[in-house]
Amino acid sequence: MKNSQPSSTKIEVKSILDFKKKKTAQSKISMVTCYDYSMANLVSQSPIDTILVGDSVAQVIHGHSTTLQATTAMMALHTQAVARGAKNKFIVTDMPFLSTRKGLKYAMEQVEKLMKAGAHALKIEGADGHQQLIQHIVQSGVPVMGHLGLTPQSIYQLGGAKVQGKNDTAAAKITADALILQEAGCFSVVLECVPAHLSKKITSQLEIATIGIGAGPDTDGQVLVMQDMLGLNPNFNPRFLKKYFNGAEALQKAFETYASEVMQIHFPSKEHSYE
Ligand code: KIV
Repeated sequence: MKNSQPSSTKIEVKSILDFKKKKTAQSKISMVTCYDYSMANLVSQSPIDTILVGDSVAQVIHGHSTTLQATTAMMALHTQAVARGAKNKFIVTDMPFLSTRKGLKYAMEQVEKLMKAGAHALKIEGADGHQQLIQHIVQSGVPVMGHLGLTPQSIYQLGGAKVQGKNDTAAAKITADALILQEAGCFSVVLECVPAHLSKKITSQLEIATIGIGAGPDTDGQVLVMQDMLGLNPNFNPRFLKKYFNGAEALQKAFETYASEVMQIHFPSKEHSYE
């Protein structure tokens, strides 16, 4: 199904149908996480295809050590802000920890809150025990993106942020789960921290688009956490991460210059003062 020639065709991602179109055209999908209005506004003016309001918000914005502290209220608030800032982008929001595990009625109430907050699709981690729920959500008219490999909501079960699918049994399980998610109605699936050869194989077996993070170049698209790709955390340097900006250094320089100019009364100058 795939070859190594990237497509130069620009297919705008306006709906889930465009994920399929892009996969078919071998035109890669770019996704970035986003949690607030001002960054959403910048992403809206960029060629990035689609936004993930990830539950990584609990770590990146709220300072928790895992994504387990994300709640539906937190996800909804950030989704609303992003939706106001990026009206032209397709927005996927994470269903938070355990929100899919407390029965159908509870799950559907969370789905309703997140979709009414402005999401266009929801992402659910893991396949085990999710098949019927995903079918029900999809049949209710809500697109679902799957998430396999390193699923951060199961960080304690996985024993840490480790590459998944390294042996044959684990690789076969992830492959089987991907097919289950496709069968259940997912329009796309995130593959996080799996060997590149495995994500290549899964991508070629699936009709739906795969989005990789730490999964090599052969997925149908890539996703990165915004603050990571902007280099805002100098202490976070996993192998899969490419920093497109030295944000930490650039911002520290701006803070230093501002503090020093205030101290020396160079700011505000006449130019920045009212007569
Ligand atoms: O929450 C998140 O940021 C994610 C990405 C890492 C895929 O789920």
